[in-house]
Amino acid sequence: MSPVILGIESSCDETCAAIIEGRVVRSNVVASQIEMHLKWGGVVPEAAARAHLESIIPVIDEAVESSGISWAAIEAIAVTNRPGLVGALSVGVTAAKALALQLGIPLIGVHHLEGHLSSTRVLDVEPPLPHVSLIVSGGHTELVLVRAWGDYEIIGETRDDAAGEAFDKSARLLGLGYPGGRAIQQYAEGGNPKRYSLPRGLRNEGIDFSFSGLKTAVARLIEKEGDSIHLGDACASIQHAIVEVLAEKTLRALESHSGTFLTLVGGVAANASLRNRLKALCALHGVGFATPPVEMCTDNAAMIALAALRSFEQKRFDDFSLDVYPNATLPAIFTTY
Ligand code: KG4
Ligand code: ZN
Repeated sequence: MSPVILGIESSCDETCAAIIEGRVVRSNVVASQIEMHLKWGGVVPEAAARAHLESIIPVIDEAVESSGISWAAIEAIAVTNRPGLVGALSVGVTAAKALALQLGIPLIGVHHLEGHLSSTRVLDVEPPLPHVSLIVSGGHTELVLVRAWGDYEIIGETRDDAAGEAFDKSARLLGLGYPGGRAIQQYAEGGNPKRYSLPRGLRNEGIDFSFSGLKTAVARLIEKEGDSIHLGDACASIQHAIVEVLAEKTLRALESHSGTFLTLVGGVAANASLRNRLKALCALHGVGFATPPVEMCTDNAAMIALAALRSFEQKRFDDFSLDVYPNATLPAIFTTY
């Protein structure tokens, strides 16, 4: 029988709940706070926590109701408890504890990045071990060597902004709102990616990334071009600069670790240009490639439940002392926080 797990995710600005039955996603509800954060041009932690508090119960109810599975059939509660905004994480963890207690079922704390890494589990083919994963989101840009589930080595990471932040900050400078990744992708369609020359941070150095120079260059470009800036070409050039540097470093990581399989996960993995570029790159180099459907790339609770499925099968549960760890790093998963 396939275990039924309720997943809860509230580490940043989306309140999410999902039901999985084995590796099949029965429901995956995401309540976005984007409208609210648009007003301030970014995520305000206290406001995010309050919004999670308001939507967590309705979102969980909707996930259970729309799954077609009864409350009584749920066998465990999985919840993101690290890393993220402390107030936001606490709302999810408190709700998860209350439900686990009421339903008399186990509680499983999940690392948000292990959730992203596990998002590929909805696909028919499970990535072989070891494999390399590029995690690209609003808070993270990491190349990870997944030796085994629970045994991760970060082989490359950003020294400043994350790739998603580079999209978001550029979009904000161009007046395209928050979050900016999808907007840049839309405006980039049909634009000329070679029109504006933008920097590729740390291009000739190792596997680490740097995106802060891009934001400065975009600000300078806007200042220089003024009203004559071509929005489509600017977005295409920004997207191209980010995608190219991600592709180059990923290839270097695969080569230096004899990688034969790559997974692409995280919110920025929703970007069509990045998906296509990495797919083609892997095909060219004889490397296997997998990326989840777009709705499983951005934050969601199905990926949290999928990560917990492994713990469930190994009977590794948490107790009610489960805490939140806002700054937990990935390799620390099964040791210390
Ligand atoms: O994984 P995620 O939902 O949240 C974090 O854990 O950070 O990632 C959100 C990030 C944002 O920076 C957003 O701009 C970016 O993912 N993003 C995209 C696209 N869709 C979302 N970036 C580029 N192209 C997209 N289509
Ligand atoms: Zn995320």
